This record gives sequence, C-alpha cells and structure tokens, in this order.
Amino acid sequence: MFYGNYMGEFAEQQGHQGPLMAEAAGVSAPATRIESACASSGVAVRFGYEKIKHGADVVLVGGAERMTNLSTADGTSALAAAADALWEIRAGITFPGAYSLMANRYFHEFGGGREELAHIAVKNHANAVENELAQFQKPIEVDDVLEAVDVCSPFGLFDCSPMSDGAAAAVLVSEEFADEHGLDAPVSITGAGQHTDHLALADRAAIPRAPAAERAGEMAFEDAGIEPDDVDVAEVHDCFTIAEVLALEALGFYEPGEGIGAARDGETTIDGDLPVNLSGGLKAKGHPVGATGCAQLSELTKLLRGDHVNSHAVDDASVGVTHNAGGTVASCVVHVLEVDA
Ligand code: COA
Repeated sequence: MFYGNYMGEFAEQQGHQGPLMAEAAGVSAPATRIESACASSGVAVRFGYEKIKHGADVVLVGGAERMTNLSTADGTSALAAAADALWEIRAGITFPGAYSLMANRYFHEFGGGREELAHIAVKNHANAVENELAQFQKPIEVDDVLEAVDVCSPFGLFDCSPMSDGAAAAVLVSEEFADEHGLDAPVSITGAGQHTDHLALADRAAIPRAPAAERAGEMAFEDAGIEPDDVDVAEVHDCFTIAEVLALEALGFYEPGEGIGAARDGETTIDGDLPVNLSGGLKAKGHPVGATGCAQLSELTKLLRGDHVNSHAVDDASVGVTHNAGGTVASCVVHVLEVDA
C-alpha cells in the first residue's frame, strides 16, 4: 500500500501514517506514506503502478488531507514548507505569491493577462456544477473572477484553489489478476512518468515553464507509446489558473506561450477538442493536497468508463492523461489512462 499525505505533521501532529492508514483500510501489507507536496498521491499511484509492473497482483494506493482545521494563515504557512526554505520561505513567499510570480513572468514573456486566466476559472467551476464530489458546485462568470477580492496580483480569489479536506483511493490490479478473477476493469494505466526540478524558482532556467512536467509527460507518453495528439481528455494540476496553462504547454498540447487562450477560445471547455478538468479541477473540485493526484485518476477513470456526470462530453474518448504537480512544479507525475488497452 502506498499512501500520499503532505501536511499531517502540521495539521494533525501525526507522522508515520502508513501503518495508520493500513489499519483504517483493514489492510495487512507493507504500507508506506509518500510525501511529494501536492503530488504525494500521484506519486503513490506511480509507485503502485511500478510495483505491479514488477510482479505484484494488487496494490492499494491513495491519499488524504485535512486542511480546514487550520486557519488560512496556518494552512498557508504549512503549504509554504513545500517551497525552498533558504531562499523563498525566509523571504516571505507563499504559494499564491510564487505562482503569481510565474503568472507575471508569463505575461511579460508571452503576453496574455487576467482575463484569459479568468476563463480557466469559469470553465472549471462550470465543469464542477453537476459533480457532487466537488467542493464548489457554483457557476461563475468572467466578471466575478475579475472583480473578486485580490489575493496576490494578478490573482483574485477565483484564480486560487481552495483549502480542502478530502481523500481518494484506488485498487490497482495486474492484468493477470483481473483476468483470473473476472474483474470488469475497462480502464488501464498504460504509462507513468515522474520528474523533478530545482526547488527554488530562482534556480530555474525559466520561471514560466515547467521542465519537470515536460520530462514527466515525455516519460509517460513514451511508456504508453502515445503522442500528445492522441490524448482525448486531461485532468491537470490547476492549483492556480496559470498552473493549468503551464501544464498544457509542458505536456505538449500547446507551444510555450500559446496555452493561455485555450479556455477563452473554447478549446479546453467541455465541448472543446481537448476537454480539460471535467471534474472541476483543483479550482472547483477542491485541492486536498495529498489526495489530489489519486483523485485526478479516480475522476478520469469514471470519465473514461462512462459513469461520470460529464462522461457524455467524452463518449468517444479512449486516452486520458493526469498531471499532478508538487510545489511550483518542482516535482511532477503524469499518468496515461486508456480504455480497453
Ligand atoms: N475559490 C472560490 N471560493 C473560495 C476559495 C477559492 N479558492 N477560497 C475560499 N472561498 C470562499 C469560501 O467558500 C467562503 O465562501 P462563503 O463566504 O460563501 O462561505 C469565502 O470564500 C471565504 O472563505 P475563507 O476560507 O475565509 O477565504 P480566505 O480568504 O481565508 O482564503 C484563499 C482564500 C484563496 C487565500 C485560500 O483559499 C488559499 O490560500 N488558497 C490557496 C491554497 C494553496 O495555496 N494550495 C496549494 C497550492 S500549490
């Protein structure tokens, strides 16, 4: 069993959660907690996938996080520990602050602005309206985003994912185990990739790029034997609106500087060529950080096998991708899911 959790020590005074979660799940097996900031349970899924590739039959993967028992200020401090302590936290940086630097640098290098980002928030809120597992089932308009209270320029409230409580789990089984037990498992993980980057933004070659995601995506696509063009639907890590843009570009769906208009132009909306974050994304589904990566796989699996409220938008889809980032994409894990592969 691999279990993702980021901030248990801060929020619960509880470390060593592998055995605790095995006990809660009624599992008697080696159980390890994985910490990779907001990518914790995405990495847990990857470890499970690798374990099955190397001969295991059944691996339980997932993650959980409780954030709302902390005040926003304490939660912000706890999250900031996923940034660089020496250069960033001491200077007072927080995650809204770090991603706002990425957004402002993106605007400077490539153009675009708050209005393009607002369309991403509007899209993801719209996708969550019928998703009963989403934190916010409330539609918003571009003006709501632009007129919302400022968080950190250029971000207002609706550019940010919220503080969330949540959990997600998946039982991964080998193909042989599924056949032997007559399991109806139409969706398979066919590729995975994971990579890292400098922890501090200041050490990066380019601030509005995400090389860890580029590499993780290349690894996952190569593992699955697909190209970005083969992907029908994606769940990507939109912890802030700009993060969705960086994800789409890093995964090769757009050239650098060209992803910012995708939601505005209807290319990534529910009826677009590449629907993105049909779950509502981190923005509206919520972002319980240690649970997010596995939750993305859960939502995408349901979308692909036809039992998600938004499955009607992707009834011809056969290939989906999840992209789960840690910190300012200092870590990233990407999975490819395919139907009847
Ligand atoms: N989007 C939409 N609505 C939000 C929201 C968000 N991100 N965050 C809070 N709200 C809503 C609440 O539901 C509440 O609505 P209500 O008055 O109708 O009940 C209202 O806004 C106030 O909520 P509150 O919790 O007091 O907001 P806050 O000002 O303390 O916190 C943020 C807002 C944006 C600062 C906080 O959500 C935040 O820090 N988000 C970023 C989390 C983060 O960094 N995650 C890691 C990413 S790498």
